[in-house]
Amino acid sequence: MADPAHRLKTSIAILGCGDVGSTLAYTLILNPICSEVILVDPKTELLNAQVRDLSDATYRGNTGTKVRAGTHKDAGQADLVVITAGAKQKAGESRLSLLSRNLHILSSIFASMSPINPHTILLLVANPVDILTYFARKLSGLPESQVIGTGTSLDSARLRGILADKADVAPNSIDAYVLGEHGDSQFVAWSSITIGTTPLHLALPNTLTPEFKSSISTHTRGAAAAIIAAKGCTAYGIGNIAASICQYILFDQRTVRPVSFYQPELGCCLSMPAVIGRKGIIRAMPVELDDTEKRELESCARGLRAIIEGATKELNADKELERALEAEG
Ligand SMILES: NC(=O)c1ccc[n+]([C@@H]2O[C@H](COP(=O)([O-])OP(=O)(O)OC[C@H]3O[C@@H](n4cnc5c(N)ncnc54)[C@H](O)[C@@H]3O)[C@@H](O)[C@H]2O)c1
Repeated sequence: MADPAHRLKTSIAILGCGDVGSTLAYTLILNPICSEVILVDPKTELLNAQVRDLSDATYRGNTGTKVRAGTHKDAGQADLVVITAGAKQKAGESRLSLLSRNLHILSSIFASMSPINPHTILLLVANPVDILTYFARKLSGLPESQVIGTGTSLDSARLRGILADKADVAPNSIDAYVLGEHGDSQFVAWSSITIGTTPLHLALPNTLTPEFKSSISTHTRGAAAAIIAAKGCTAYGIGNIAASICQYILFDQRTVRPVSFYQPELGCCLSMPAVIGRKGIIRAMPVELDDTEKRELESCARGLRAIIEGATKELNADKELERALEAEG
């Protein structure tokens, strides 16, 4: 029987304690929402150093959250598993170029976490996040509502930031979503943006020219690449966004955000607005798109499906090879 004290603890496991994983852990310590953060990383020296450094941030006494190193098996029993494990883009590299490496890491992670707690919620951060979310769902065997990717939540926060500057209002007065892929085929759902309850075209009259829209979406799409070119990674924005999603889940907050999850009618995972709570995706929130946005969504899904098809072949070929090697020897 499980130790009852264990069941009273709330734990978040973070796989990968590089720039993103450690920043997320730090954010979870400063804004405590769980009793324990479990860090897992095959680089044991780095892992132990991160645990010691992060633990030092807990001794001032303003947090109840403890940090410890764990194994993939431990992680598989956590309430929430955040996957930041994997290669990151170098300057000038696309997120999709990481696919082969990160898909293999993902597949090995699920092999070592098994058997996974059937109530765990998985939050994918590693890139290409929409494709990895799709495969995490397959590899984990968890219900699709329990597998979420951070998707365009970070892009949407950036959009909110730049529109808040233009309109001279607080960012949290803006409801604006980037939808689709967390990548080049993402699109801004311009037709549904509001400031308070005011549609954007009324809040910013005479501003929404094609040039304005194009410069904003170019900024949002390219923001990560510009930061990576200068400092080698992005960590604070995504650390904060991932920590917020953890909170929506553990506090059953029912917050609406664009996140990546399985879209049965599109055959892939991509970002659309959803209600997020203790069971993961509580429900999709319908969004009204205009004809251009509908075409952008279709084209984005087509691209993601083609990548999924290629990656499925690669995974199957790997399995064939493993079977052949086992049979030989
Ligand atoms: N979704 C987003 O919006 C977003 C934003 C920023 C970064 N990212 C992605 O997050 C990922 C991590 O970025 P980073 O800057 O932290 O990279 P990083 O290289 O600093 O850290 C990655 C860590 O993963 C570890 N790792 C590798 N295999 C592992 C395994 N099997 N189990 C556990 N850990 C393992 C590595 O040892 C490394 O420490 C990248 O794929 C990056 O592209 C996503």
